[in-house]
Amino acid sequence: MRHYLQFKDFSREEYDYLFERAAKIKKIVKSGQLYQPLPGKVMGMIFEKSSTRTRVSFEAGMYQLGGHAMFLNSESTQLGRGEPIEDMAKVMSRMVDIVMIRTFEQSIVERFAEHSLVPLINGLTNEYHPCQIMADIFTYVERFGSIEGKTVAWIGDSNNVSRTWLQAAKVFGFKLKLACPAGYDMVVLDGQEYGPDIFETCRDPYVAVEGADIVTTDVSVSMGFERETLQRKKDFINYKVTEQLMKAAKPEAVFMHCLPAHRGEEVDPEVIDGPQSIVWDEAENRMHAQKAVIEYLLLGKITD
Ligand code: CP
Ligand code: NVA
Repeated sequence: MRHYLQFKDFSREEYDYLFERAAKIKKIVKSGQLYQPLPGKVMGMIFEKSSTRTRVSFEAGMYQLGGHAMFLNSESTQLGRGEPIEDMAKVMSRMVDIVMIRTFEQSIVERFAEHSLVPLINGLTNEYHPCQIMADIFTYVERFGSIEGKTVAWIGDSNNVSRTWLQAAKVFGFKLKLACPAGYDMVVLDGQEYGPDIFETCRDPYVAVEGADIVTTDVSVSMGFERETLQRKKDFINYKVTEQLMKAAKPEAVFMHCLPAHRGEEVDPEVIDGPQSIVWDEAENRMHAQKAVIEYLLLGKITD
């Protein structure tokens, strides 16, 4: 049994396989045909934080695969009244076939996995967001063929999403150039173990976007960090993706954002709603890529 808790849990070969499956399944569904290899299978989804894309993509995806997805949150389960995550894992995994969890510390996901009888997927923690970056890279590969040797410029917070881009840079052999303000150095510290072909850091967004094929950013206040809002708004004032900043990247560069976006804060509307933005394909591909992961975790490699 396998889990998907961090991006590095799958190898480059496995991602190549998953992207091939995602493309195939996407094509079948887009042509109006059904692809339902998981009749009677149930996914339990635990959400300790809000979600639009993650919930909709897993729920719709599981249904389209012939199965069912069950939405659970802290308030409506005993989790909110202090039931240990280990007990949730033991009970839920006797009843469902696969679990997806969105929560706070990565250690919660690891504790669940340790006691789970079924595969577990990380749907975002404070530290990582593997499903997001898998879908992002699938989106880039779908459009341009390969991400190997490319440059990804990250402008803004050193958070769960940028930290996952760093793991992906190592797996896929591209370079992450990260510009974040002083004091937000979680990814900078992680990056110390990689050479300059994989990771480079700076404070100046214009230095980060030089030679970039992808420019990407995220909110400055992630879920769970709301009490730091005032300070963060000040610290991230110069970390906005503007039209001018996009012009300093390669002319063919694309703009990506995991969403939800805050127009006028981390990105200007002219960029996210402009011709270089591929954010809507990126959001849609969450579902197609995750369907490939669900299929792989439940059925293994399909040879057809
Ligand atoms: N990108 C992403 O995970 O979006 P949601 O928070 O809406 O799920
Ligand atoms: N970094 C953001 C991502 C939301 C999808 C957060 O954790 O809130």
